[in-house]
Amino acid sequence: MKNSPYILSLAFATAATFCAAPAMAKGKLNVLCSTDTDWCSLMETSFEAETGIDVSLIRKSSGEAYAQLRAEAQNPKIDIWWGGTGDPHLQAAAEKLTQVYKPKALPNLRDWAQNQAKVSGYRTVGVYAGALGFGYNEDILKSKGLPAPQCWKDLAKPIYKGEVQIANPNSSGTSYTALATFVQMMGEDQAFDFLAQLHKNINQYTKSGSAPIKAASNGETAIGITFIHDIVKQVKKGYPVKAVAPCEGTGYEVGSMSIVKGARHLKEAKIWAEFALRPDIQTMAEKANAYQVPSNKSATTPPGAPDFDTLKLIDYDFAKYGAADTRQHLLQRWDNEIKSLPR
Ligand code: F6P
Repeated sequence: MKNSPYILSLAFATAATFCAAPAMAKGKLNVLCSTDTDWCSLMETSFEAETGIDVSLIRKSSGEAYAQLRAEAQNPKIDIWWGGTGDPHLQAAAEKLTQVYKPKALPNLRDWAQNQAKVSGYRTVGVYAGALGFGYNEDILKSKGLPAPQCWKDLAKPIYKGEVQIANPNSSGTSYTALATFVQMMGEDQAFDFLAQLHKNINQYTKSGSAPIKAASNGETAIGITFIHDIVKQVKKGYPVKAVAPCEGTGYEVGSMSIVKGARHLKEAKIWAEFALRPDIQTMAEKANAYQVPSNKSATTPPGAPDFDTLKLIDYDFAKYGAADTRQHLLQRWDNEIKSLPR
């Protein structure tokens, strides 16, 4: 049978409509991201480009992200929580806000990343590690005739009054890591004495953990307490800041990833989890100026990332400081005894 002109023109019209229509997304995924925004965006665009899955991503500090998961436990809006310090991921795991998943790449991950998975009953997994420290703006210290601090105890000296910035440990995983580090290094009461002294030097408690070193870079504070990799990022960008690995030793994070219990887009969340643990994807972090140590043994650690073998790291007790009751106790004590003190 010959095609009639009507049928042919209908066929052309239909073909034209299909060609003009945007490619259909191959699913949806809601991501809560707790690393720095540049890395969040790079992950979002690379994942979308490779999989065709439409990602909706928001960035929140680790403590805030954990609070969101708790608030939405009965009606989760987030499918996967990627990045952020490991402690609140463990707290979410203990409260069963996240779900058991054993990624295929698990055996290829470094011990600390596999250990994070084991401790949580496989409800979270390590994606990177970072050591805590502080950074200072060399120009500001020079102009004020102040010496460069080298140790945690230096930061509590009266010469640095109003010169130090750190995040609020309720919202920020970085600052909770600092709180837990001081408690593990000094003992709880001595740590709170130290925090009370340090408080006199604090000019602002920020929401996000990397904000203090960004402020130091912009000349808004002399010293910022933060992860060393966030300082390296500012150094690479050309700001006059220097990183310090404190003389007494320091704590560290196992940045983690968890699939939310009751995730509406579970299949897509698992695709993200596998993607985020791939060596090529972890190696790509350097493009976003992210200098954490990657968890996949075959990923390349970006040049400039702090060398864990040369740092004096404490034996951070993730099971204890990742427990919900420890978190609640320490934060309540910080709110009652430190935040409310006059400066
Ligand atoms: O900026 C990146 C980073 O330091 C991560 O390594 C870390 O997990 C996260 O930020 C912590 O951010 P926050 O202190 O805002 O929770």
